[in-house]
Amino acid sequence: MASTYGAPQVLVASNRGPVSYAVGEGGSLNAKRGGGGLVSGLSAIGADADALWVCSALSDGDREAVRRGVGEDGVRMLDIPADVHADAYNGIANSVLWFVHHMLYQTPLEPVFDAEFRRQWASYETYNRAFAEALAEEAARGAVVVVQDYHLTLVPGMLRELRPDLRIGHFSHTPWAPPEYFRMLPDDVAGQVLRGMLGADRLGFLTQRWADAFTACAEQFAGGLGGTRIGVHGLGADADFLRKRSHQQDVEERMAALREEIGEGRRTIVRVDRTELSKNIVRGLLAYRRLLETHAEWRERVVHVAFAYPSRQDLAVYRDYTAEVQRLAEEINAEYGTPGWTPVVLHVKDDFARSLAAYRLADVALVNPIRDGMNLVAKEVPVISDAGCALVLSREAGAYEELGEDAITVNPYDVTGTAAALHEALSMRPEERAERSKRLAAAATALPPARWFLDQLQALRG
Ligand code: G6P
Repeated sequence: MASTYGAPQVLVASNRGPVSYAVGEGGSLNAKRGGGGLVSGLSAIGADADALWVCSALSDGDREAVRRGVGEDGVRMLDIPADVHADAYNGIANSVLWFVHHMLYQTPLEPVFDAEFRRQWASYETYNRAFAEALAEEAARGAVVVVQDYHLTLVPGMLRELRPDLRIGHFSHTPWAPPEYFRMLPDDVAGQVLRGMLGADRLGFLTQRWADAFTACAEQFAGGLGGTRIGVHGLGADADFLRKRSHQQDVEERMAALREEIGEGRRTIVRVDRTELSKNIVRGLLAYRRLLETHAEWRERVVHVAFAYPSRQDLAVYRDYTAEVQRLAEEINAEYGTPGWTPVVLHVKDDFARSLAAYRLADVALVNPIRDGMNLVAKEVPVISDAGCALVLSREAGAYEELGEDAITVNPYDVTGTAAALHEALSMRPEERAERSKRLAAAATALPPARWFLDQLQALRG
């Protein structure tokens, strides 16, 4: 066990860390820092605090950085063997646990829990154990550890055994499956996941709905919550950061470029997502097509600005989904486009400044996931849209709990309903739109990342 002097008092564990490395020309390593709620949340505890972020090496660049001993202060990257990591991350976390919590299976044919699944499950255990051991080695006596997400469900239980002195929290950034869906997992695996989570002192969720689903699973399949407490922390948008960042020069430049693409005087329906099965981008495009079909008055007068950034491209189903998004966008453009009007402007290359530019220009934001832990895009667009935007929001997004009242809400499977919602959003009077947008922005920023993180630490210490 590490000595306690100078050892970290606060530890975060997650698959994806705050920094990644790429091997550049001549073998040099280029570091790229990520953003997101956890990064700004952790920065709130101050640079002097003894904090450590434990994460996985995800790419060849990351592995090279670990081998060369290159790294950031306060970050420890685990070089878990690439095949073990691939089985745990692609095989179990993203193809099984993500699918279960987002209810993504086409159940007549999947899931199939066979010998291959068992092999991958063993890797998931190994990978979770590597985290538990690293955390046990690093943490100061009585330190607080906050474990993130479905990749690391076994860590709290494993860590509790190694270091009973620690305060252990786990936070889920995803939904939790209802019991009747969760029980698709083999019984022993379902039990391991629940017992792993229940090794924590406290479990955090983004909404009451997901917290209740977990509690129901624990009651039905693990004999209850035991001593584990449950908390809800609805991560909000980082207003200060967004307002500042979205007025920098690169964003202004991208706004000008986007305006060119959109054309003079047209309305915009904006969406920004990872190209993620649960985001429902295809039905969003179908709804937009339906809008153009049934409301001819919008032809030439609206553009659907859709940013669908690459995600999890190691999985065939994600590659196929990305191809379908592109195919459908092209089909709509071929069907309705005119020499001066491109109905769908689709971008697939990740560009944060351009996303912010689109947020500022948005007349309507389309956020229609089939299931989503929170969805921060729904919270971010109202905060920085220049003229206020109308939000079309799925009732299956976690953000619905906080934003539902001032959004136009949709059943994400209902394409004609979503088309009608888009029409309503485009037709909203400017004053009403501005009013609603103001209320949406207030609700969206009620719990900034710093507060969100500190609240969790406090609850664990208390
Ligand atoms: C969701 C998960 C995160 C994950 C992110 C991106 O938001 O909750 O844990 O990091 O998706 O997915 P990726 O597989 O690229 O890390």
